[in-house]
Amino acid sequence: MRILTLETTCDETAAAVVNDRLEVLSSVVASQDKLHERFGGVVPEIASRAHVERILPVIDETLKKAGLKLSQLDAIAVAVTPGLAGSLLVGLSAAKGLAVATGLPLVAIDHLQAHIYAARIAAGVDVFPCVGLIASGGHSNLYRCAGPLDFELLGATIDDAAGEAFDKVASMLGLPYPGGPAIERTAQGGNPAAYSFPRSLIHEHDRLEFSFSGLKTAVRYQLSRDSATEVNAAAAKLSPQELSDLAASFQEAVVDVLVAKSLAAVRFTGFKTLCVGGGVAANGRFRQKLTEGTDRAGVRLFLAPPALCTDNAVMGAIAVERLKAGLVSELDLDITAGVVRAARAS
Ligand code: KG4
Ligand code: ZN
Repeated sequence: MRILTLETTCDETAAAVVNDRLEVLSSVVASQDKLHERFGGVVPEIASRAHVERILPVIDETLKKAGLKLSQLDAIAVAVTPGLAGSLLVGLSAAKGLAVATGLPLVAIDHLQAHIYAARIAAGVDVFPCVGLIASGGHSNLYRCAGPLDFELLGATIDDAAGEAFDKVASMLGLPYPGGPAIERTAQGGNPAAYSFPRSLIHEHDRLEFSFSGLKTAVRYQLSRDSATEVNAAAAKLSPQELSDLAASFQEAVVDVLVAKSLAAVRFTGFKTLCVGGGVAANGRFRQKLTEGTDRAGVRLFLAPPALCTDNAVMGAIAVERLKAGLVSELDLDITAGVVRAARAS
């Protein structure tokens, strides 16, 4: 069984062909980072327009790399939630067009579940039941994953997502977008204990929720209590070592919270396995501290490989599970753009 998977939820136009053994036959990701860089974040209209221009060439290239024709596929899968409405609609329209033209079944993908499933793809073994963490630009969610189609939200961020905090702090520090990789690079050689930034909710073990806006404000106030221009001016005056220390101290605070809450979720569920995905999971310090924390706690850890942490279509292989369960969508399939808010775990 071979599936063409499409991903256009935010600012990457991506397609992949995967099979039911979770092997990747081809994968293409057309990043829009350069288009959004000067705005310091994703501009929805620019994103959807770029998806329109790129989706068909990306699909063509993906099929070519796999050495396959449309007629040799068995299904078309597409991420339909959550994301930017205009972006999601481009992927869904392309998928519907292909499904109508070929008569192939259409399969819906939840982008957040797919991020966590990226860890399952790399694991090569069954990982369920597990706790799932996604830490990305739009979300910081913990799930109880009883099975590959049975995700229950345990908790989420009550304000900014972890990646959003990286992006906003990077912008304050005058670093490029996306902020996560820029902060990670800048933090190298920095002292993570140079500044003591807040780790919100870290001691509230019964709350499987995140909060990163206080941390973001603490970094801002460390620089200046005045306008955004003053904040940028203060950052520009930092020595390279001070900048590095600030980036490392901020990164450490985010990482400590993500690790602590993941372990709290593992204890809460009684599960012994943790699967992690999303852009922030590409962060080397996070990977190191989570590996140490799970080793100490005797928890099996499966991290998505860095290339499958940020948005891609390979993780859409979760569609294999839906197909096997007969969960095929009709042509009236629609997008759901909104963010789902967390229920309390306790
Ligand atoms: O999963 P993703 O590609 O898109 C969403 O679904 O949001 O995540 C993008 C986010 C951005 O906020 C980016 O700054 C962050 O992931 N990110 C990182 C790293 N690489 C990407 N954050 C920290 N360290 C990284 N190395
Ligand atoms: Zn994503």
